[in-house]
Amino acid sequence: MQWIKITPTSSIPLREGRPVTIAGRDIAIFHLPTGFMAIENACPHSGGPLCDGITSGTKVACPLHGWKICLETGKVERPNVDASVQTYPVRVHDGIIELNIAPALAARELKECAA
Ligand code: FES
Repeated sequence: MQWIKITPTSSIPLREGRPVTIAGRDIAIFHLPTGFMAIENACPHSGGPLCDGITSGTKVACPLHGWKICLETGKVERPNVDASVQTYPVRVHDGIIELNIAPALAARELKECAA
């Protein structure tokens, strides 16, 4: 696993999200009471910036039209549609948030090989 240092934990207030771009991917990192989570920063409905959404538990509501997305699975939970966003592993090391995009890149390569 290749972990990428992002920012100190103190730079993302509790229950808020922040955008970051890594290797051309727009990612939203959220600070939840249980820790930090990261997902693709584009709502599957119409590309809304999920980093600006309101969090509740481990869900985020898109700021544009309110689609509710699970931060653990990336699946849209409301409305009942078959859509999802990419999730990314997050860890904290010495007070720094770190992301790993390698699993997402590997999954994309597998999809491209299968196509
Ligand atoms: S763009 Fe997110 S709900 Fe419409």
